[in-house]
Amino acid sequence: MTRFRIAIDGPSGAGKSTVARRVAQRLGYLYIDTGAMYRAVGLKVIREQLPWDQANAIVEAARRARIELIAGPRGLRVFLDGVDVSEAIRTEAVGQAASRVSSIPGVRKILVRAQQDLGRRGRVVMEGRDIGTKVFPEAEVKIFLDASEPTRARRRFTQIRRNRGALDLEGILEEIRQRDRRDRERADSPLVQAQDARYLDTSNQTADEVVEKILKMVRVVEKKSGSG
Ligand code: DC
Repeated sequence: MTRFRIAIDGPSGAGKSTVARRVAQRLGYLYIDTGAMYRAVGLKVIREQLPWDQANAIVEAARRARIELIAGPRGLRVFLDGVDVSEAIRTEAVGQAASRVSSIPGVRKILVRAQQDLGRRGRVVMEGRDIGTKVFPEAEVKIFLDASEPTRARRRFTQIRRNRGALDLEGILEEIRQRDRRDRERADSPLVQAQDARYLDTSNQTADEVVEKILKMVRVVEKKSGSG
């Protein structure tokens, strides 16, 4: 049995969740969506109406937050303080809030530690922005998923329309740009490709094609380490 950790990073809308979930399913690994954890903290900040300029209060809220990721028949469910918030965290407002809380070092420290605990035993596919650079720099397989801006906006658009009805593509494009800029420019653990990560552009590939490429990488690494 391998103890592999598979790190999947990249900007929003690059296809990380779909791909990470399917890779985990195929391998029988645990799937961990770290963005959902930042989203849960973002939701808590919104609900408690904490001011954005009070970083200490936000760190305190992150410390108090009881965040659980539970795999079930309907996919990964996210619980915040005992309540299922899986749908509530998927709005763009919460996405923006997540991006804001994620730039606070104290919040990152708490969540990164929790993520390291979750992945300690291996056999995990973890997706986020800093998995290959910070959470598991020693991960056996690292992928940086990317896609063109219009592709990412279109994917987000389809996803949001499915959940909540109409929205304009132009607005989504702008929100994606804003969030990416913040994620790439923050001082603490910005979104960057790890040096040893494989870059995959998913613009013109189906999720399954990307999944197959990643599984192939896993097999190569397994063979090399003699544990396959
Ligand atoms: O992947 P997502 O859209 O659910 O993530 C929401 C926000 O959380 C994203 O804009 C940046 C932040 N994030 C992070 O800083 N580090 C991670 N490992 C995952 C997400």
